[in-house]
Amino acid sequence: MRRKVIAGNWKMNMLPNEAMSFIEGLAPMVKNTPNEVILCVPYTDLFYSLLTAQNTNIKIGAQNMHYAEKGAYTGEVSGQMLKAIGVEYVIIGHSERRQYFGETDESVNKKIKAAFQNELKPIVCVGETLEQREQGKAQEVITLQTKLALEGLSNEQIKNTMIAYEPIWAIGTGKTATAEDANQAIMSIRQEIANSYGNDVAEEVIILYGGSVKPENAKELFTTSDIDGGLVGGASLKVEDFEKIVNFE
Ligand code: PGA
Repeated sequence: MRRKVIAGNWKMNMLPNEAMSFIEGLAPMVKNTPNEVILCVPYTDLFYSLLTAQNTNIKIGAQNMHYAEKGAYTGEVSGQMLKAIGVEYVIIGHSERRQYFGETDESVNKKIKAAFQNELKPIVCVGETLEQREQGKAQEVITLQTKLALEGLSNEQIKNTMIAYEPIWAIGTGKTATAEDANQAIMSIRQEIANSYGNDVAEEVIILYGGSVKPENAKELFTTSDIDGGLVGGASLKVEDFEKIVNFE
């Protein structure tokens, strides 16, 4: 059985003092959960969050990284830098990065490879726009994004890649995909992985749903056959909401 994973994505929110009190508040509420708990925080919160999360079961991730080890890339942060301070996870190819910062399937693939070189575990986002969905292209788009993201990785690396299916029309809009639709989409991602890398690989990959996950819909989403948890934006900013999502059972 695959484990359940609940990952918060704070996006560009939370100052270091807010991050520390959030983690101090959350830790006792989630200490007995069987689910994996991850918070993906802004770069400036990473060190404070890592220190505060020590001796808890909360893991810390970044929201992006550069694919180069180091060099003349003003304003960027490398996988090596994240690893050096103890970061464990990194979100790659979030739709906001694809939309506003020129992230492409090619850069996503390079970043995933660089993450593995630095022993970071990538959480890779895929998802269709509303227009693509209305044109009946959702499945084609998400399976292609998945295929290109994973190109050139070993089976072992693929098993350790988390994928987050986030339909763009559901992010921050309050509109959630129905549990059935989200599960279908995630099954098609798993099928794509099975076709290219075999069933044993596909069965191990953790695939999350993201897009307006909240305490009210977490259980319905996370108890389907193929949804292994959530990548949570807005509702990860309040301890009382996020705690309920982690403890959805
Ligand atoms: P949301 O964001 O939960 O606020 O819709 C999800 C995400 O973008 O990861």
